[in-house]
Amino acid sequence: MTKRKIIIDTDTAGDDAAAIMLAVKTEDVEILGITIVNGNVPLNSAAANALMTLELCGAKIPVYNGSARPLVREPLSAVSVYGSDGMGEKDLIHPAGRPEDKHAVDFIIEMAKKYPGELEIVELGPATNIALAIMRDREAMRGIKGIFSMGTGGFSLGNATPVAEFNVYTDAEAYSIMLKSGIPLTIAGFDLCVGAAAFDEEEMARIEADSPLGAFLISSTSKLLEFNINRNGVKVIDLPDAIAMGIALWKDIILESVPCYCHCCTVEEETYGQVVVYETDKYYEGISVVNKTNAHVVKRIETEVFKQRFMQLLK
Ligand code: RIB
Ligand code: CA
Repeated sequence: MTKRKIIIDTDTAGDDAAAIMLAVKTEDVEILGITIVNGNVPLNSAAANALMTLELCGAKIPVYNGSARPLVREPLSAVSVYGSDGMGEKDLIHPAGRPEDKHAVDFIIEMAKKYPGELEIVELGPATNIALAIMRDREAMRGIKGIFSMGTGGFSLGNATPVAEFNVYTDAEAYSIMLKSGIPLTIAGFDLCVGAAAFDEEEMARIEADSPLGAFLISSTSKLLEFNINRNGVKVIDLPDAIAMGIALWKDIILESVPCYCHCCTVEEETYGQVVVYETDKYYEGISVVNKTNAHVVKRIETEVFKQRFMQLLK
């Protein structure tokens, strides 16, 4: 059976690391490489986190540094959520390896040309590298089979601002370019990873006890847990990137995925990074029917099945 060929583009913090673990542990997937983008933490830190995660998984997969900053705006970070190193500030990150010399955007274009109609990209951070590749070689990128994006608030609100999710808010211009590219796009919004989809104390204890990888993951998300306790009053860890990877790996967990026309706001400060999700062919009282589609936005997944598979794979 031919393995699926994927690139994981990531701003590696704890939830990205969880997603990487899932992909590494999935037999029918060949990870061609991991490309790094500025987001949760600066580029070098995200690269070190990805390298460390791969080494703990015993996986020999090349890592390529990409853009250290968004297309237009100043770099942001999520160190207030994940810790200064993005991995819980537990002194976990001492990778032996280092990134390749080749730039991530060159690697993405090279793989798109090498595997036309086959390459899939799982986007776990801001879309800066993807946008740069599209601008550099639109033709090659049109050959991509599909992009799975952890991004937007989905059918709910934002987490970085009232209306914008962090990955999009970090580089809305890049997200807009990706939305307009014509590349088949499946969006896993932030709304999918909260509530019952977040891991509670009992589940965290099981993950930690089940394996060294699980213990690493729980340590790396300790600042995220603190953030959720202090800011939201709940003892849970939400792992949006793991959910997005689960959707990319296991389409059967998708209960509802809606064809939509998504518009990314890049002009006004108040709505910067907001992705307006028009459901294709839906009757809206205030506007004419939108009959075009540029993304499928996942509305519901089998959360319990996802959690079972997630915990089983990490054992
Ligand atoms: O908003 C959540 C997203 O932003 C996740 O990808 C998380 O890792 C951060 O990049
Ligand atoms: Ca991420």
